[in-house]
Amino acid sequence: MTTNLEQDILSRRTFAIISHPDAGKTTITEKLLYFGGAIRDAGTVKGKKTGKFATSDWMEIEKQRGISVTSSVMQFDYDGCRVNILDTPGHQDFSEDTYRTLMAVDSAVMVIDAAKGIEAQTKKLFQVCRMRGIPIFTFINKLDRQGREPLELIEDLEEVLGINAYPMNWPIGMGKEFLGIYDRYNRRIEQFRTEEEDRFIPLNDEGTIDVENDMTKTSYYTQALDDILLLDEAGNDFSEEAIEKGQLTPVFFGSALTNFGVQTFLETYLKFAPGPQPRLTEQETIVEPTDKDFSGFVFKIQANMNPAHRDRIAFVRIVSGKFTRGMNITMNRTGKSFKVTQATTFLADDRETANEAVAGDIIGLYDTGNYQIGDTIVGGKKKFQFEKLPQFTPELFVRVSAKNVMKQKHFHKGIDQLVQEGAIQYYKTLFTEDIILGAVGQLQFEVFENRMKNEYNVDVIMEHIGQKMARWIRNEEVIKDSMTGPRSILVNDRFGNKVFLFENQFAMRWFEDKYPEVELYSLL
Ligand code: G4P
Repeated sequence: MTTNLEQDILSRRTFAIISHPDAGKTTITEKLLYFGGAIRDAGTVKGKKTGKFATSDWMEIEKQRGISVTSSVMQFDYDGCRVNILDTPGHQDFSEDTYRTLMAVDSAVMVIDAAKGIEAQTKKLFQVCRMRGIPIFTFINKLDRQGREPLELIEDLEEVLGINAYPMNWPIGMGKEFLGIYDRYNRRIEQFRTEEEDRFIPLNDEGTIDVENDMTKTSYYTQALDDILLLDEAGNDFSEEAIEKGQLTPVFFGSALTNFGVQTFLETYLKFAPGPQPRLTEQETIVEPTDKDFSGFVFKIQANMNPAHRDRIAFVRIVSGKFTRGMNITMNRTGKSFKVTQATTFLADDRETANEAVAGDIIGLYDTGNYQIGDTIVGGKKKFQFEKLPQFTPELFVRVSAKNVMKQKHFHKGIDQLVQEGAIQYYKTLFTEDIILGAVGQLQFEVFENRMKNEYNVDVIMEHIGQKMARWIRNEEVIKDSMTGPRSILVNDRFGNKVFLFENQFAMRWFEDKYPEVELYSLL
């Protein structure tokens, strides 16, 4: 028999939406929140050009650019499930934050623009999901516009991303001639631009519809039937197991803007998306979501959610058990125990006080500087640490200093805290002790600069340096001072590990030829 807690846990669906900018992630999120009753008007999450901004937009820089710098969390109930959507910035200058957010989900929804197919950023984010083996569901968007051939898009998924695809539905026409979708899974046709009551027509045993109407007389309908036949015979088989392992992606077609196919997607998705998954610990044990004791890990720290309060919030993914406000928790890294009285959940248009939350949920804990990215917190007596969150190899570097030398103290405090939050990576040159910051995306620097000014009252000088490739060293003992030079700068990372920053691929190869004894490696 399942207990109430187990039922609660099983009802959780925690996912992120990944896409290249402009594929329609925000639009789809709005529709999902709308179905979930979390917003009344599907158009309030972000109004790029209208100046309306969501509560998740927390910095001026975001407003200027109309993008979401930080990932936020949105929660709603639907069909007996509690859905947690973790937003990931879609901008191309995305950061490590995006990657880390993917560590806190159990599945991902990949949104693709039907006219563009797989784009660069979709691919990067997909690879991170792949690495974790999490199930990926695909929504091919903008069918109301002329796009690429559906079969070509499926081929793209399989060839470019290397994942098998199973179309759950199939478009009938496209663009101006978009008539609807042939829903293989629900065995019905969903008509585009039709009144709600006429929208669905069930399929008969032959996989066609009995009624004749304007659509069935078109060549698009015949074409869709032909394509379906082909998919039935030559396509992949539907397999829940393969979906669960992240080897097969169910594909849905639709048009988020016109709110077509999104609800069908949501309902089918909730049926197949996994509930909270177990996590590994560094002690090589597995923590099951239904384990009695509460546990979780910090995957993100965000300062200044509310500029009036200067607060920091540590986002915690609950891995097991139940969180109750006022409970005592222990942080594994410091061994300190404390009572958590201030916690928050993330409803779409407001932040609410969290009294209870269970495995799968995300809670925000008010932080006065106690938490670091990757920290494990536990409610019970057992001591363990969840597997480390991956660190990503930065590709951009700046040398940073304070404009006003009198502001050194604030400067260092600001850097310390922002590095601790995971906003930016920190390196120090070996002899000159210059501070070098590394980032995955340019935007991280802009956010850094902005926050140093607003939160720590320090103007910084940032000089781009040529180095683009960071490599860690397996056998640090073979490193000699003479190996460092303008093309291969030797630095320490924030943990004191030695790292070479190479100017380019060529400089790195030259170095490897000259010093074959040095074993270099990159992070993710
Ligand atoms: P993103 O978060 O992935 O960056 O994409 P977003 O939802 O902001 O959508 C990017 C653009 O694509 C928006 O237009 C949006 O209206 C449009 N769009 C989204 N879904 C569909 C769809 O199903 N069909 C069509 N035709 N367009 C779609 P925009 O003009 O750039 O911005 P806005 O003024 O509408 O905000």
